[in-house]
Amino acid sequence: GNPGSGGSGPAGFPAVRPRRLRRSPALRRLVSNVRLHPADLVLPMFVKEGVDQPVPLTSMPGVVQHTRSSLLKAAVEAVEAGVGGLILFGVPAAKDARGSAADDPAGIVQLALADLVAEVGGDIVLMTDLCLDECTDHGHCGLLTDAGEVDNDATLARYASIAVAQARAGAEVVAPSGMMDGQVGAIRAALDAEGFTDLPILAYSAKYASAFYGPFREAAECAPQFGDRTGYQQDPARSVAEALREVALDLAEGADAVMVKPALAYLDVLRAVADTVDVPVAAYQVSGEYAMVEAAAAAGWIDRDRAIAETLTAISRAGADIILTYWAVEVARGLAAPR
Ligand code: PBG
Repeated sequence: GNPGSGGSGPAGFPAVRPRRLRRSPALRRLVSNVRLHPADLVLPMFVKEGVDQPVPLTSMPGVVQHTRSSLLKAAVEAVEAGVGGLILFGVPAAKDARGSAADDPAGIVQLALADLVAEVGGDIVLMTDLCLDECTDHGHCGLLTDAGEVDNDATLARYASIAVAQARAGAEVVAPSGMMDGQVGAIRAALDAEGFTDLPILAYSAKYASAFYGPFREAAECAPQFGDRTGYQQDPARSVAEALREVALDLAEGADAVMVKPALAYLDVLRAVADTVDVPVAAYQVSGEYAMVEAAAAAGWIDRDRAIAETLTAISRAGADIILTYWAVEVARGLAAPR
């Protein structure tokens, strides 16, 4: 053999042995170059109006719908763990066709935001999911036409109003997730007109119609009452180019950062977006990704902690600068501990 070829050595053995650097934990730690950091993690949190105890979620063991006060306690824990941000979802007591609670100054998200500003403002980035599905009685992300279709342009006016309400209540980043065409531009214009020119938009740009949102719909009580979201969320069976187009449109409309969602089944999309844009890229490890690992671990079929670390490492390796994950606090604590 020819050692210079990198093939085999004189005795027919390999000269190049990738295993050399895997031989000990210390060596592996030295050469690893995909690392998670608590500051890059964002914790999604649910707050429910009208409850006096946190409500555990059957399909997301360990996750709850918070009361206003338990939300603050959990937010402080996130700060103490070094988590970089939280994103707030509200479940109002009353829903209607236009999702009135979403931009009501006394709506649950606005009230909880004000609490958070007072309790942890400045210590963690306070983000809001900007959508209508948590507040509409029909569960869709927008207003409906008489024919029962989601009315894109009428919905934009609602999103604009929600953005302003969230900004007034203290949101530091708004994250539109409804996948209406033109939503980023409409929200940017509304925020600018009200003086919030410096408030960033994290756009859910490449958001797919996914089975992995199932448990979230229990958490946010927002399952569509008829039909599904395939008329506005992206089709998984379309190539990555479509995601790049959605991202480019959102950036042209003024998005400051973009998101790919879900994460694990869309790592190809995530990698392509990360290679294309120069703004921060977020990935959302969604409720179903969480539930899958928790359920398999509870059955004794998978090593929970390793599976969590492996999925988050994969998302980071695929190019995410920011990761939204329901495990944010637990993972941040583990990362902060001496190793
Ligand atoms: C829409 C929204 C959804 C999620 C985040 N924002 C639900 C949907 O699009 O159906 C899903 C998050 C998750 O599954 O963890 N407001």
